[in-house]
Amino acid sequence: MTTPKAKQSTKKGRPAFRRTITVLLILLGVVLVGLAAWAAWQYKQERDVKTSQDTVNSTFKNIQLESDAYQDDFFHAYATYVVTENQAITNDIRKTVDAMFGPCKEAAQSNRSAVDYECNASPEINFATDDYLEVTYTFRQYPSEATVLDTKTRQVGLVYDRKTGKRQAITDIFKPQSAYLQKLSEMSQDVLKQRFNAAYYSKGTSQAAMQQVTAPQAANFNDFILSNDEKLVIIFEPGEVAPVSEGVVQAELPTDQLYDLFDQKVIDVFLPKLKEQKVAAAKLAAEAAANRERAKELVGENRENIDCTKMKCIALTYDDGPYAPNGNRLLDILKERNAVATFCMVGNRVASYTAELKRVVDEKSEICNHSWDHSDFTNLSDADVASQVQRTNQAIYSASGIYPKLMRPPYGAVNARVLAQVNMPLAMWSVDTVDWKDRNADIVHQRAMAGAKPGAVILMHEIHSTTIDAAARIVDDLQGQGYVLVTMSELFGITKDNLSEFDNKKLFHL
Ligand code: NI
Repeated sequence: MTTPKAKQSTKKGRPAFRRTITVLLILLGVVLVGLAAWAAWQYKQERDVKTSQDTVNSTFKNIQLESDAYQDDFFHAYATYVVTENQAITNDIRKTVDAMFGPCKEAAQSNRSAVDYECNASPEINFATDDYLEVTYTFRQYPSEATVLDTKTRQVGLVYDRKTGKRQAITDIFKPQSAYLQKLSEMSQDVLKQRFNAAYYSKGTSQAAMQQVTAPQAANFNDFILSNDEKLVIIFEPGEVAPVSEGVVQAELPTDQLYDLFDQKVIDVFLPKLKEQKVAAAKLAAEAAANRERAKELVGENRENIDCTKMKCIALTYDDGPYAPNGNRLLDILKERNAVATFCMVGNRVASYTAELKRVVDEKSEICNHSWDHSDFTNLSDADVASQVQRTNQAIYSASGIYPKLMRPPYGAVNARVLAQVNMPLAMWSVDTVDWKDRNADIVHQRAMAGAKPGAVILMHEIHSTTIDAAARIVDDLQGQGYVLVTMSELFGITKDNLSEFDNKKLFHL
């Protein structure tokens, strides 16, 4: 064992050399620390944040935009503050912006990766009057190479009473006693389910989470934008009501459906167009009611008082019945509104619906002949045309006790040969709603109203339930415009006495 000996002799033999090494090492350490400090100082100099500030006037009176920019080689941060004449509002905006923007700025500043980092807070002034200010703030943060920005984006709607400086909560914009929270909850859920249902809410937990943040509690709806006449926008954070990848979700609720619940001042200030529409609609409804009363007085039980050379008359016509399920619904609508119509019926259906025919006659509407089996008369022999007309007249008489005055040829198809066989006034039309093709109540209503003018004859079909769905609206709107709804015979002044004068004449004078 010679090693320990050797070691000891080495240690004993070189004490001065060891001291020198120690001193050198300490010196080297000092130099290195100094160098590191110098490098760090240099580095910090380079990373020192450059800040700049800028204030400009906005396009709105008494509102400035103050922008703060911070940047170095690794990050950029911009915040724009809305500054108003009301210090409370200015302070609240600053507080809100800093709360959202501050943490991002800190994170960006301490980020040491080579990826650029960016934060910004940008306002959009949606609305500014002497009474109210509304700003939507969007906060974005992202490494600037990132492609998906939405998941980290936040949005907040800020609505202020400009006089008091108070930020408006959802409770401030509705009438206190109204059931607005329930309505907001229902409408939000409907909108969200429509938008995300298939992809998202099929998983029960997602739907439960959504229902929780849209439950009828004020706190759920305090982030909102009320910036135009048409929508109240409720803002939800990423992941609250939809997958995070959807980012911020805006649920757009039609203000039309909330109108009666809004605070009156909010209606006056934020919803002037809607208010105008509602006022106009109420006025129209009142006029319709008044016109209906006037028509009732004019006409009453005495329909011979009707004079369409002096009144604003219009005739609705319903073809291809009878068909009691629709006919009775239509007659209910007409009766309720003191209106009548003309039913052009197909002869071979009449025996099945004799009660409907009696009701049409009892309630002063008119039955017209629409052939026996809806054949195109121009393809029939003279004898067959005559037979189609006569059989149908007879069937209508048997069922109702009245012979029809008018004949409407199927498809409006007539020629000189056909005319020679009919020998009745021909109930043509001026407006074809083409209701059989679209089967859509809104379209029927729209076309009927577009074609309405004094003396018009509007063609529809009794057999389509969508057409009956449109009837109440058509009658209400026409009466609202001052029309008296009459039968075709009334429109053209045809009575038993002068009937022969109209034989084979086409009835439409537009
Ligand atoms: Ni027809």
